[in-house]
Amino acid sequence: MTRRDADPQAIAEAACALRRGELVAFPTETVYGLGANATDGRAIASLFAAKGRPRFNPLIVHVLDRAGAKRHVAWSEAADALAVAFWPGPLTLVLPKLDGSAIADLVSAGLPNLALRAPSHPVARALLEAADVPVAAPSANRSGHVSATTAAHVADDLGDMVAMILDGGPCRLGIESTVIGLTGDEPLLLRPGSVPSADIETVLGRPLTSRPDGGTPATPGALPSHYAPRAALRLDAAEPRDGEAFLAFGPNAGDGSSPAINLSPSGDLLEAAASLFAGLRRLDASGVAVIAVAPIPETGVGEAINDRLRRAAAPRPAISRGETGAA
Ligand code: TXA
Ligand code: MG
Repeated sequence: MTRRDADPQAIAEAACALRRGELVAFPTETVYGLGANATDGRAIASLFAAKGRPRFNPLIVHVLDRAGAKRHVAWSEAADALAVAFWPGPLTLVLPKLDGSAIADLVSAGLPNLALRAPSHPVARALLEAADVPVAAPSANRSGHVSATTAAHVADDLGDMVAMILDGGPCRLGIESTVIGLTGDEPLLLRPGSVPSADIETVLGRPLTSRPDGGTPATPGALPSHYAPRAALRLDAAEPRDGEAFLAFGPNAGDGSSPAINLSPSGDLLEAAASLFAGLRRLDASGVAVIAVAPIPETGVGEAINDRLRRAAAPRPAISRGETGAA
């Protein structure tokens, strides 16, 4: 691991590492982020592996400004008002993702929405400028640990996993960004954070609907937290049966008679994670009733792949189709 003072040379090297698909930890005004190039599905998969997250939670994408955000989401008046008031700063906006966006599917765990924020920390901004790619970054702690607010915390938690830790001293705020959902009729408080919700309500001129638990939305279906295929999934399938599509993994790709997609012919879990949601979506679009899914090893990021597949395979009541609880 390389922990470096965040001087211009280190920032330039960190930007190159990001562009190569490596992970870089960097300071923001809230907490340290574990960054990866948001347009590189494989880099995002390795980020989930490093976090030790047993599931794919949607990630916040960091951009420089409103122009950088508008390339990826359907912008709105409310988004504009909030960004003018609080960007750069500790506010994250969740908006509908644009079809043409270059952001990898895995970043939002297959959801049609994307979380974006423009951080104000000068090191984070210099890194975004030098890398010239949107950067997905969860808090730079191992899953289940508290968020890291110093470079030493990051080193303790993730030292071996990252190409570089940019040390910009302790984070000023120490509490994560406030996350606001702007995808439905009502603005939602998805996560309380550094911007007080009362300040947000003042700018919007209306109250926020609160979801302090981050769990099931007040209105069922208002915020699907996961992409759910229409087809049923049959897991641990060695082969597809007649009429089934096949989501393959590794050298056994089926017999070629069914619609099939191989997540990774070489059996590489990072590659499989990066293509999981697009693969499910394409097979689902073929109109089959059942997608047979090859066994996926339960190691590394395979744990998160299997978690996602098991939840996609679980029976869903009609009312909560497309939503499986907390992310
Ligand atoms: O201050 C912060 O927000 C820090 C710094 C590094 O920017 N980042 C951070 O990321 O706290 P993370 O991954 O630890 O938390 C992301 C939060 C989660 O609560 C997640 O569920 C929510 O944002 N989120 C991300 N994308 C979402 C989406 N598409 N829809 C709904 N919620 C989303
Ligand atoms: Mg976190």
